[in-house]
Amino acid sequence: ETIYVLNGPNLNMLGIREPEIYGDESLDDIAASLEGKAKSLDFELEIRQSNHEGHLIDWLHEAQNENAKAIILNAGALTHTSLGLYDAIRSIRTPVIEVHLSNPHARESYRHKSFVGMAAHGSIAGFGSFGYELALDAAKQL
Ligand code: DQA
Repeated sequence: ETIYVLNGPNLNMLGIREPEIYGDESLDDIAASLEGKAKSLDFELEIRQSNHEGHLIDWLHEAQNENAKAIILNAGALTHTSLGLYDAIRSIRTPVIEVHLSNPHARESYRHKSFVGMAAHGSIAGFGSFGYELALDAAKQL
């Protein structure tokens, strides 16, 4: 079973970017520990990052076409703006698990709306990089 782990804009800057909010691990660090967790759950991971909305939309479609079991999606700031991502998630049957390192609801009001969350199966936020591991456990239960 394959799980897509899709990351949006500026998440390539993890470790450097506002570490007091997002932690000091890089996306590669997170990917490495996630691979260990995936092995124990018998999952194959497809871990990707893009700063471009269209890539994320193409990958959501691809996950469906490849019969992925689930998609873990941290869409970064596109979470709060992208009707295109909302429509893409609604266009596929593959369940999407929304993840955020921080808890957007405890931050600025412009982060309170989530186009991803409105279409996702469920959401995990505020647990730092551990949220991705929680999402893998959640995917196992689907
Ligand atoms: C984020 C939260 C978003 O509001 C922000 O734009 C990000 C990261 C998170 O993981 O906490 O880029 O998705």
